[in-house]
Order: sequence, then structure tokens, then C-alpha cells
Amino acid sequence: MTGTSIFTIAVHAGERASRPDFKPVATPIYHASSYVYEDPETLDAVFAGTRPGPVYARYGNPTNAALEAAVAALEGGEAALSYSSGMAAFHGALLGAGARAGRTVVAAQDVYGATHTLLRELFSSQAVVTHFVDVTDLESVAHALSESEPVALLVETISNPLLKIADLPRLAEMAHHSGAALIVDNTFATPYLCRPLIHGADYVVHSATKYLGGHGDVLGGVVVTSDVRRARLNELNKLIGSNLGPQEAWLILRGLKTLPLRMQRQCESAAAVARWLAKHPKVSGVNYPGLPEHPQHPLAARLLERGAFGAMISFDLRGGDRTAVFRFLGALGLILPGTTLGDVYSLVLYPAMSSHRSLPPEIRQGIGIGDALVRLSIGIEDPADILADLGEALEAA
Ligand SMILES: Cc1ncc(COP(=O)(O)O)c(C=O)c1O
Repeated sequence: MTGTSIFTIAVHAGERASRPDFKPVATPIYHASSYVYEDPETLDAVFAGTRPGPVYARYGNPTNAALEAAVAALEGGEAALSYSSGMAAFHGALLGAGARAGRTVVAAQDVYGATHTLLRELFSSQAVVTHFVDVTDLESVAHALSESEPVALLVETISNPLLKIADLPRLAEMAHHSGAALIVDNTFATPYLCRPLIHGADYVVHSATKYLGGHGDVLGGVVVTSDVRRARLNELNKLIGSNLGPQEAWLILRGLKTLPLRMQRQCESAAAVARWLAKHPKVSGVNYPGLPEHPQHPLAARLLERGAFGAMISFDLRGGDRTAVFRFLGALGLILPGTTLGDVYSLVLYPAMSSHRSLPPEIRQGIGIGDALVRLSIGIEDPADILADLGEALEAA
């Protein structure tokens, strides 16, 4: 450091210690927006990519790099890129797959509401046409794929909120046959239940806001893919700048450490809740892939690992409408009406009011998301307490 003035000392003192010869056990949060090197030649090499290292926060950050390495390892992928939200990650993956004016995309019709709206409104305003299909009907998927030359087929491993299962090996084969990349939203399943890359997916997308973070305190997204595709995504993100902040990356990295423990517990409790709901007189239908009566139970049993079926459930209140659902929501005490999922807390959501509010009612109802449908995200509480809360609220509905 040069300078003896208090003004200079206040700015520079204590900063930029040379690299330590110790390794912190947990990755620190790098809040720096830029990085300096010994000489301009080294900085030039870092810019050129011939020497690894961070340069500028929009190009990459060491805390985010640790999160990306962890998610890539969990998903069995070569590399990952983190984003400021799940939606930003989707946008990135779609651009990475080549969604541009004049090109088409084929997407599952019952994807998360904002994903539907992103394609139906934003991408269509940029002249990217999307064909929405029921991914459980492989013939209609094949037809949609053969009609245009889509750049991507976009599906959710377990769909939100109808809990349909995508037959990833078949869909990957069909997408590749048409020259399309398979983009899989693995938010509901997490790598605990399914690793879509080993089934042929090209991009795996997560809303890390959900199970990866797990504690309801962070917004983020991740795309896992090959090294080559990741490099392309990073070039795009240098221009778009939808980077995840390092504080958020750190929270998600910390959340990941208990992902398997949380998922194990949450899946077990959800299976018990789904079985209980299926017998309840106030419930007319339960969507949970672990129930033998789920139309895709055999596929779910083949595709999902560890004999578990996830911790998301949706169900219809018998004869229910908005008023009855509101009475049910109002009567819940433990289960929180939070507009998210995958947290340690049990959560309830009314898709018609929130996650799928942006869909025109006729489209929403046409894909099976009716006014009586309620979605549950089962947390890590004692399952007996979850059932007691549900029991009281169903009586009140
Ligand atoms: C299945 C699924 N994918 C993507 C998203 C979008 O994620 P984010 O809210 O982190 O942008 C959500 C959000 O609820 C979701 O449920």
C-alpha cells in the first residue's frame, strides 16, 4: 500500500492479503466485484481463459463457483451456472438451447405458471412459437416435435401442480431425434429422486429457491449441463447479468448439505399424508405419484430413485370452489399459506390464486388446474402434527 493519509489508509488498509496457505472448511462469501492479479500478463491470461480465476462478479464468483460445483456433482453433470432466480435460469437455458425469432419450442402444458407465461407471452412476443403438449401423451409430443424443428423440449420431472411424471428416457430420445435439446425442470424431484442428465437431458434447471435452499430464505436458480453448454450460458449471462448474489449462493450451498436428510424425511411424511388424504371423505382426488392409483405410478417407481416419490401433493376438495378452499386455507394453523414450496416448513398453495394465476382461466382449467385444487408442500415437522392440522381444516372447509 502506498500513502500515509488517513483518507488513503481508510480505503486500503487490511485489504488484499496475499493468498493464504490455509483452506476454510466452509466456502467464504466473496463480496468482491472485481479481482486483481500480480501483473497485467496474469490478468490478461485470466481474461483469455487460459488461467483460471475470477475477474469481475458478472463473469463469475468463487462462492457461486463452489455452489455450481456442488449442484453439478449432485446432478451428475459436468458443470453448472447459477442465476438470480429459477425463472432467470429458465430464460438462460432457453436462450442457450437456441430459442430465437423464427424458432419453436415444445413444452409441457402443465409447467409452472410463470414458465408457461414466459413462453406464451414473452418468448412469443420475440417470435419464438411454443407448442404446449400433454407430456404423458407421447404421441402428441411426437406429433408436436415433428411439426416444426424445435430447438427445445421443455418438461418438469414431476409437474407443478398436477404431479404428472415425464418419461425422461423416452422424451430425450424423441427430442434428440428431432434435433431438439431436452430441458428438464427438476425442482420438484431434486437430485435425491432423479438425475435427468443420466436419462438423456441436456439442461437440468432448478428453482434453487425451493428444495436446494430449503429454508425459505433465498431466491436463486441453477442450470446443470455440459462444459461446452455452460461456457455458452456464461457468455450469454455476461450480457444479460442475471447473476446470483454471493450471499444467496452461500445460503443455497449451506442448504444443499441437508438436502438428502430433508428429502428423506419430507418424502416419507408426504407419502403418509397422501395415503391419509386419499381416504378422507372431504377429498375427491389426490395427485401423488407414490399412490398405486396414480396413473403413472409404475413409471414413477422406475424413474424416481430410493423408493421415494417426492414431498409435493395436490388434491381436490370434494365439491369445492374458491369459497370452500378459502375456508380450508383460513382454518390451517401449522401449514403456512406461503407462495413457495420445498421448505422445511409445510406449506399450502392455491394454484388458481397464485402459481397459475397468470394463466387465462380457460387454459388453466383445460389443463386440469381447477378451482378446487390445493397444493401441499410437506415439511420436516412431525407428520402427526401435519395430519392433525389438515384434519381440522378439512372439517372447517
Ligand atoms: C417448478 C418450478 N419451476 C420454476 C420456478 C421458478 O423459480 P423462481 O421462483 O426461483 O424464479 C418455480 C417457482 O415456484 C417452480 O415451482
